[in-house]
Amino acid sequence: MLNARSLVDNLAEVLVVPSFTRLGFNLRRRLYDWPDAESYPMTGRTVVLTGPTSGLGRAAAGAFARMGANLVLLGRDAGRLERTRAELLAETPGLAAPTVVVDMASLASVRAAAAQVLEVAPQIDVIVDNAGAMIPTREVTAEGFERTFAAMTLGPFVLVSRLQQRLMESPDPRIVAVTSGGMYTQSLPLDDLAYERGEYQGALAYARAKRAQVALIRERARRLRGTNVVANAMHPGWANTPGVQASLPGFAKLVGDQLRSPAEGVDTILWLAAAPEARAVSGRLFLDRRVRPFDRVPSTRLSAADRALLWGTVLAMTGEPEPTARG
Ligand SMILES: NC(=O)c1ccc[n+]([C@@H]2O[C@H](COP(=O)([O-])OP(=O)(O)OC[C@H]3O[C@@H](n4cnc5c(N)ncnc54)[C@H](OP(=O)(O)O)[C@@H]3O)[C@@H](O)[C@H]2O)c1
Repeated sequence: MLNARSLVDNLAEVLVVPSFTRLGFNLRRRLYDWPDAESYPMTGRTVVLTGPTSGLGRAAAGAFARMGANLVLLGRDAGRLERTRAELLAETPGLAAPTVVVDMASLASVRAAAAQVLEVAPQIDVIVDNAGAMIPTREVTAEGFERTFAAMTLGPFVLVSRLQQRLMESPDPRIVAVTSGGMYTQSLPLDDLAYERGEYQGALAYARAKRAQVALIRERARRLRGTNVVANAMHPGWANTPGVQASLPGFAKLVGDQLRSPAEGVDTILWLAAAPEARAVSGRLFLDRRVRPFDRVPSTRLSAADRALLWGTVLAMTGEPEPTARG
């Protein structure tokens, strides 16, 4: 049964704009009288975070540090990564935050980074797959993959798969995939993951890769059923970050001060990583601390068979072994 709060929340959700802007965030914060996400303790827990050098990743890194977590920071530019680490240490003296350089679009780089993470992090409690970008023109990586799909689908798949066994040693292991509401606009052509058909559009490639990322998280959660790993996706709504300003300047201008702040955008990342109640479900998509639908129109729906097929295809593309489901 829907109560009045859920009804108001769901109505906002259907209307997209009030839901994704800071209006939606503030409405739900008041409706549910949330505790501040940073009030959940993370002391003694280690978070592996991709994309900490900008926007949402930077905001999440600062918050996790304040919550008492140790961090492993994965970024593609050594200079930016070190600057971020120095800022975090200045904000939170004594923070443990080793850095690992990785280009998420290169599987060789991701494999090397995963090995380094396993060296520096004897314990992994949370993996946050946050790094992402909209790539305006179709590019093929040196390994032969379309770059958007490589960076936001294949790279994260390999990283999480290679860290999964260590993660499972945690008493409270969680995976948080940062996706985008943009995925609602696109279906995933399972027979054209490399985007070889039709004219390439960055926003479309981005939305497809995000849809694939979410389908893989659902499939991973299904395969991990019976273990203690909780794996969920979240989308942040629309937040004012360097990424949005650079890739969607017109959109950023249009939405203006109704864009969420980075802190508002990461609220559900922190909540999924830290809140005891966020362990209740796995394999779902969240916005503002609540489960949301995977699809807004039936034509984008991927069946369980489609998701299993995608998993198998991604294993074949990456050459990864099936990640172990036992610790
Ligand atoms: N902001 C929003 O409204 C919004 C909405 C929906 C979804 N998202 C998602 O939220 C996540 C964070 O986005 P943001 O808005 O914070 O963007 P951002 O400010 O551009 O930050 C993106 C981060 O990802 C890193 N990154 C990008 N490509 C990478 C690669 N190939 N290898 C390693 N790191 C890479 C960037 O590193 P550099 O600093 O080196 O560039 C940066 O740290 C993304 O997955 C994005 O798709 C954001």
